[in-house]
Amino acid sequence: MGIMFNEKTGEFHLYNGSISYIMKILRNGQMGQLYFGKQVAKREDYEYLVENRYRPVSAYVFDDEYSFSLEHLKQEYPSYGTTDFRMPALEIVQENGSKITDFKYVSHKIYKGKPGLKGLPATYVESEDEADTLELTLRDELLRVDMTLLYTIFGHENAIARSARFENRGGETYQITRAMSLCLDLPDDEYEWIQFSGAWGRERHVKTRMLQQGIQSVGSARGASGHFHNPFVMLKRPTADEFQGEVMGFSLIYSGNFLAQAEVDTFKVTRMMMGINPFGFSWCLKPGEEFQTPEAVMVYSAEGMNAMSQVFHRLYRTRLARGYWRDRERPVLLNNWEATYFDFTEEKLLKIARNAKEDGVELFVLDDGWFSTRCTETSGLGDWWANTDRLPDGIKGLSEKIEALGLKFGLWFELEMANKDSELYRNHPDWIIHTPGRHESHGRKQYVLDFSRKEVVDYIYDMVAKILSESKISYIKWDMNRNITECFSQGYGPERQGEIFHRYILGLYDLYNRLNTAFPQVLFESCASGGGRFDPGLLYYAPQCWTSDDTDAGERQKIQYGTSYAYPVSSMGAHVSITPNHQVNRMTPLKTRGNVAMFGAFGYELDLARLTDEERGIVREQIRFVKKYRRLIHTGTFYRLLSPFEGNFTAWMVVAEDKKQAIVGYFKMLNDVNREFRRLRLQGLDEEFLYHMEEDSEDIGAFYGSELMHIGMVTTDMSAGEVPAGKEPCCDFWSRVVVLNAE
Ligand code: DGJ
Repeated sequence: MGIMFNEKTGEFHLYNGSISYIMKILRNGQMGQLYFGKQVAKREDYEYLVENRYRPVSAYVFDDEYSFSLEHLKQEYPSYGTTDFRMPALEIVQENGSKITDFKYVSHKIYKGKPGLKGLPATYVESEDEADTLELTLRDELLRVDMTLLYTIFGHENAIARSARFENRGGETYQITRAMSLCLDLPDDEYEWIQFSGAWGRERHVKTRMLQQGIQSVGSARGASGHFHNPFVMLKRPTADEFQGEVMGFSLIYSGNFLAQAEVDTFKVTRMMMGINPFGFSWCLKPGEEFQTPEAVMVYSAEGMNAMSQVFHRLYRTRLARGYWRDRERPVLLNNWEATYFDFTEEKLLKIARNAKEDGVELFVLDDGWFSTRCTETSGLGDWWANTDRLPDGIKGLSEKIEALGLKFGLWFELEMANKDSELYRNHPDWIIHTPGRHESHGRKQYVLDFSRKEVVDYIYDMVAKILSESKISYIKWDMNRNITECFSQGYGPERQGEIFHRYILGLYDLYNRLNTAFPQVLFESCASGGGRFDPGLLYYAPQCWTSDDTDAGERQKIQYGTSYAYPVSSMGAHVSITPNHQVNRMTPLKTRGNVAMFGAFGYELDLARLTDEERGIVREQIRFVKKYRRLIHTGTFYRLLSPFEGNFTAWMVVAEDKKQAIVGYFKMLNDVNREFRRLRLQGLDEEFLYHMEEDSEDIGAFYGSELMHIGMVTTDMSAGEVPAGKEPCCDFWSRVVVLNAE
């Protein structure tokens, strides 16, 4: 791994043995992009990649010359209006109204390791040898603004982390209205654009289309990354698939409004960019002030989408997630939400917890409804003290009672919100985000607290810290159930109103950070009406996220499959719930509900007392299995094998680092009859190892890795109607989990 600078040619080459990223100081002093992909030979001069040509109707930079046009050059961090007419990476509005900028190379620093980003989540290294960083400083002399482009290349991962920082060294005040975290000009457009989109209850479904001339984008303007689109996209060669071919993944470590966009120009150059959504954004940069963009991560894979995902999984599990829980086995939890909703008493909760303990659950989580006057969704949000009518000894008392049962105790909060019917709102009506003189729209009868203001965050921190200090709380579910409307903060002047969406997220990160620091052993699970803020930004503070409110085992296959493109199994909160399912009213076998959820941070969301004895037996077995294999499932290499978006089957597997153990999950949506003989080709095993296969604790034979990978595991099922003695017949939403142990 290294970063080379060639003084003669002004070229930078970042490489790590697998990938290369090459840039050049162009003749006009701006930065040009030359290459990103599989590592190439280190040569003295890559000037041949700077292709300039006369083209009619273009504008040119140098007098008496008809070739140097930024419109036709691939650039690192382009601006609009100085011969390039495509969407720029930055825009700065100046006091005279001009938006023209011209950032030219001034200096650079190359060093080992990776810096943190102040106030923002970012990937990190544990030793300086893990990564190299390049800081490129460019300056607009007229504005006297410095722009630093940060690039970190990881030694063992095909990933480059990028961000940009601006510093006003002049005397004028500027408005930054666009500042992308990443911009990448690619030489052609032969890519499929893959995005992860959906809605509440069907988050991160895979959507694919061919890139076309013009702009294609996804984003959010809701104040959160959102259910609708995820701050992650891929560009994939049409011939590439899960197992081979060229793929790039782009991920933004941010939880607020974002934009991911690809612009294909008329000469088929693709400009990929990602960052804070410029729509609704501006940042006032006064003399002496700095602005730092969030970090974006780009991953290159020459071996298909699984290999790309595996880089994100390792990076986000071990170099983005932090703290006490990062490498620890996650507790099997039971959450009372779908068991009781708002209708509970302490007695009822303790009964649920006792049953959970009997079956092997380790953590009992009390969801919404435990505080203040909160017995429905209309009141109490913002008042974080226990409702002693329901919990006579408060949270302290309940947490002690739960611990006395031998369980850990977890608690739900929704810290960013207030109901109008709350002490908080009555005392501080100006603390909600709203525009003076305008109607205040609600979502679920709640209003968003103005986290751009420090005093609001401080107030909430003090309330939560008090409960956490007094009680035995091991886990927090941090929910967020509506998006921002009428965005305006009373805490800032007119020139700063464009900052509020971003400042809100900075306030959110600050609160998370303070709680992480003060209560390092508390496990945080983020949530936003299910998976409405499943993004890398929050994984820095909360290593797991409630993937979706939709707990149906069929729907979850799609949601978890889509989520797995960027996010590790350990980050996906996944629970077994009751049937008929509360979201889709569907019946699925308990076994399948468990088999899907165990490929996640596993738990239950039901009252176990309502199950039959036979079902309780299945639950006990599921918990035993999860405890035995959760480390492998969470840290193993994850492979997607069959896509629920393409057919009736879903399959995935995890393989231990030493390849001695693996677990395959195989799921069938609807039953079929008299169909083909089927085989499932496995991945990532050792060709030579003999694997003993076990299903439902029964030996089902031994096969060599080479057989399982090249011939496949036989998955022909009993759909032809025959039911071998002692076996369950195949049915809709049927599934298998097979454990492989090498001899
Ligand atoms: C939305 C979450 O996604 C649910 O799991 C639950 O916590 C409810 N909010 C509680 O109001």
